[in-house]
Amino acid sequence: MFYLKYRPKTIEEIDNLHAKKMMGKILESDTLPHAFIFVGQKGTGKTSTARILAKAVNCLNNKFSTNSPHSKSYEPCNKCANCQSIGLSSFTDVIEMDAASNRGIEEIKNLIRETSFLPMSGGYRVFIIDEAHMITNEGFNALLKTLEEPPKSAIFVLATTNLEKLPKTIISRCLKINFGKANTTDIFSMLKRISKNENINLKDDLLRLIANHSENSFRDGAKILEEVTLQKIESVEETEKFLGIRGRNDLIEIIEKKNLKNTLLWINEFSQNGGDFKNLIEDILNQLHSQLLIKNDVIENENKKITLTLIEISLLMKLLIEAYQNLRNTPIDSLPVEIALIEFYNKVEGKKLKIN
Ligand SMILES: Nc1ncnc2c1ncn2[C@@H]1O[C@H](COP(=O)(O)OP(=O)(O)OP(=O)(O)O)[C@@H](O)[C@H]1O
Ligand SMILES: [Mg+2]
Ligand SMILES: [Zn+2]
Repeated sequence: MFYLKYRPKTIEEIDNLHAKKMMGKILESDTLPHAFIFVGQKGTGKTSTARILAKAVNCLNNKFSTNSPHSKSYEPCNKCANCQSIGLSSFTDVIEMDAASNRGIEEIKNLIRETSFLPMSGGYRVFIIDEAHMITNEGFNALLKTLEEPPKSAIFVLATTNLEKLPKTIISRCLKINFGKANTTDIFSMLKRISKNENINLKDDLLRLIANHSENSFRDGAKILEEVTLQKIESVEETEKFLGIRGRNDLIEIIEKKNLKNTLLWINEFSQNGGDFKNLIEDILNQLHSQLLIKNDVIENENKKITLTLIEISLLMKLLIEAYQNLRNTPIDSLPVEIALIEFYNKVEGKKLKIN
């Protein structure tokens, strides 16, 4: 998987400028904070950076090691026994916990018990708590005491996508690093880096299109690139179709004509080309939403107005939202959209529509 293969392994490789700078400064200084909060959207490098930090402070070849007193570098070497075993998640002094599934007081107590042990093979025991906002109140209270008087050799990293769900008392005891969301330029440069390494020759336009469709997540970007390569897609148009963008305009035009047969033909083709229905619905809803605002002069736009009436637009939006929710439970990907459109035509054209 590209997104695992190209996970950043050094501070230098973190594409997120702000996080990179902050981490660099912290590791350069003489005192290390004992607790961090990494906050940011999904796929912005929180877990990756927590692992880089764990490697850096336990590496045998950098400034943190007594083995190499003359080294000035804070980067992990990624070669020594400690770096390697952290990379393989087999290092006893790095403890990762997913708070989404271990959120209660017992789990936190176990974790706290672990903090009283001295490191076995490295300089620090690093505790990485993913999805930290899922911890229960009781759990937070227990953790708070440890954060107030942490053992010298322990470092905590709380990673979260929802800072507002963490108690203020916890936040104030940690150093916060903001990973924000991945912007298109950063994702684009990641895609370039992967392409170069994998000998993938895709046009910049196409990579930019992928970057724009990655929901501000490096992980999503890397995944789309991998899918596009696997499907041997080479043109911008094919990619648009694959992502379900091209579909958006075409499909809305067809819906305007309210021809059920053409609609079902279109959806069938979209499906056979491997189109993504989640993306398709999102795009159509976005488009309908702007049409709603344009029609009411809330926003100005040169885009041509569609001929659907306001009532039709809102009905269609309602049905598509239902379809969106049903995507998770359908055995056939295309079904929710098909049903939504049949219902739509039936309601607006009920009398005219021939239903056999
Ligand atoms: N700064 C970055 N530069 C390049 N690639 C990155 C960066 N951050 C993340 N990635 C890519 O995204 C993937 C996911 O990153 P990571 O697991 O660190 O994100 P996360 O912030 O922990 O996400 P989540 O909230 O979903 O757990 C990595 O495997 C890597 O491929
Ligand atoms: Mg993570
Ligand atoms: Zn090392």
